[in-house]
Amino acid sequence: MKVTTDESRMRRCHRGFEPIVFGLAVWLASPTIGCGGHERAPAAEEIAQLLRLPDGFPLPSVPADNPLTREKIELGRHLFYDPALSANGMQSCASCHVQARAFTDGRETALGSTGQVHPRNSQSLTNVAYNATLTWANPLLVSIEQQVMVPLFGELPIELGVTGHEDLVLDRLRDSPMYRELFAAANPDAEAPIAWPSIIRALASFCRALISGRSPFDRFVYGHDAQAISDSAKRGLDLFFSERLECHHCHGGFNFTLSSTHDGVVADAAAFHNTGLYNVDERGGYPDDNTGVHAVTHRSEDMGRFRAPTLRNIAVTAPYMHDGSVASLEDVVRIYEAGGRLLSGGPHAGDGRTNPHKSGLVTGFRLTDGERRDLLAFLATLTDQTFLSDPELASPFEE
Ligand code: HEC
Ligand code: HEC
Repeated sequence: MKVTTDESRMRRCHRGFEPIVFGLAVWLASPTIGCGGHERAPAAEEIAQLLRLPDGFPLPSVPADNPLTREKIELGRHLFYDPALSANGMQSCASCHVQARAFTDGRETALGSTGQVHPRNSQSLTNVAYNATLTWANPLLVSIEQQVMVPLFGELPIELGVTGHEDLVLDRLRDSPMYRELFAAANPDAEAPIAWPSIIRALASFCRALISGRSPFDRFVYGHDAQAISDSAKRGLDLFFSERLECHHCHGGFNFTLSSTHDGVVADAAAFHNTGLYNVDERGGYPDDNTGVHAVTHRSEDMGRFRAPTLRNIAVTAPYMHDGSVASLEDVVRIYEAGGRLLSGGPHAGDGRTNPHKSGLVTGFRLTDGERRDLLAFLATLTDQTFLSDPELASPFEE
């Protein structure tokens, strides 16, 4: 489909998030793109089966205009791993979202297809289906369909770089017999199935299928296997859920983040927190390119507020935090122990511990070396090896 000037203008702003969300919402809701409005929504049981939901997991909410189907997930998987989706053929979604790293990339901040540096760390896509809002800090971005347009079309920074090359990318897909088949199967009613809306819906469907809930912790809690985790990890679990450490107030629930939504649950509007990582101006400022929710709302109380990410698979997603500025899990824990981070030198020097916008739940606590080891042992039990090596979530293009 041809993108109008108005739409491309709206899509041009990546960090001015409101217009992009508005633009995308309009675009996706437009009747001319043949949304799947007539598609039958699968029953709860079918969704659970399609997503292979583990015991104890609720049903994620799925938008009515993008019902899940096996064919869409399969098309989405091909697109996710295909560099043909970037204008210069250099990058796919999987370049920044690597399965073995729980769909992160190991870099501090992401690098786009043309070499532009993203201000943020590539997020884990673990259980992204349940996130109440998308990205590190955007209360307005509430559907995966909206989110996937950012790496596709965003220009600040360029990720896949499709803007201005929409037809080039579509022609590549249309020239491929494999894609003609996959798109037709995913869009049985469409006359011209290879189009951006169907690409977006397929990618979002694949993202929803990235479900992780078969870790040793899950075997311990949901599988009632007392031997699934070590005694040290059990002590760490108690620490994690203690009022002394407070972790669970932000990273609680089945997905280890309270910024979750699912069937029938209304999202918590206040699920963004300042954890005292920076204080560049002694007034609580964060570095200019990463001010968190503040970049969206421009309200001073939103300075440095980010979404508490899931801690599932956290042991394989280093480096940590929205800008990848914390190298190891032990360093993360030490920052919470100190009640924030003191940066005594460098461009962002300042004492995050005294950040006036810091959450009242991040006040610091003392751990013995043994307790710290226990907490880290517990966090490691959240690693789900099945997820990290599941062939159904892996690239269809490699053996
Ligand atoms: C250049 C690296 C890069 C590429 C390519 C990329 N992403 Fe991302 N992805 C990121 C970064 C960085 C974030 C966090 C963005 C932010 O906070 O603003 C992110 C966030 C996301 C999120 C939100 C996760 C959450 O928990 O809220 C989803 C979903 C996502 N990406 C899917 C995709 C898909 C699908 C593609 C391919 C169309 C893709 N990404 C391509 C780097 C990348
Ligand atoms: C006030 C809410 C809050 C509390 C309490 C809290 N966290 Fe966090 N956590 C967050 C937020 C928000 C982030 C992201 C911050 C950022 O990137 O600026 C985060 C990030 C993390 C990360 C890095 C995640 C990633 O993907 O990079 C880890 C690990 C973590 N927290 C563990 C813990 C542990 C362990 C505790 C208890 C000692 C804890 N958190 C307590 C809100 C909280």
